[in-house]
Amino acid sequence: MNAKRDLYQELLQQARGLLAGERDPVANAANLASLIWHTLPDLNWAGFYFLKGDELMLGPFQGKPACVRIPLGKGVCGTAAAEAGTLVVPDVHAFPDHIACDTASNSELVAPLLKDGRVLGVLDLDSPHFKRFDAEDAAGIEALARLWAEASDTTP
Ligand code: SME
Repeated sequence: MNAKRDLYQELLQQARGLLAGERDPVANAANLASLIWHTLPDLNWAGFYFLKGDELMLGPFQGKPACVRIPLGKGVCGTAAAEAGTLVVPDVHAFPDHIACDTASNSELVAPLLKDGRVLGVLDLDSPHFKRFDAEDAAGIEALARLWAEASDTTP
């Protein structure tokens, strides 16, 4: 038995129920951020940034107030968006241009929101613990990012 995998399976199941029948991307992001925040331990921030032009714009989240605009390619979020790939950062202080929104953050996991190969934004989790996130967390959060993209009407 793998406790973390079970936790993510349960989280994904609950998320499917929560988003069922709703196509609004902001409402779905808001409920997902809340579900993640209340389900996963040891987080100090969980939320969304949406790509607008060449910037990431703050979306629904749980945690302390955060940076509103992040240029594409900057920080952990901007890098994950620019590369269209998930980033697991065990120590954010060692990440070259990490953007410190909350000084309590020590590790971070960012998964891109992808639809038909296009990056629509990112799903970002922060933790006060170093090395909080591993490959299992990355797979679980990627699954939630996919669910958001499939469930939501993201036509511009
Ligand atoms: N630390 C992030 C910025 C977003 S906050 O953590 C909410 C980064 O470097 O992209």
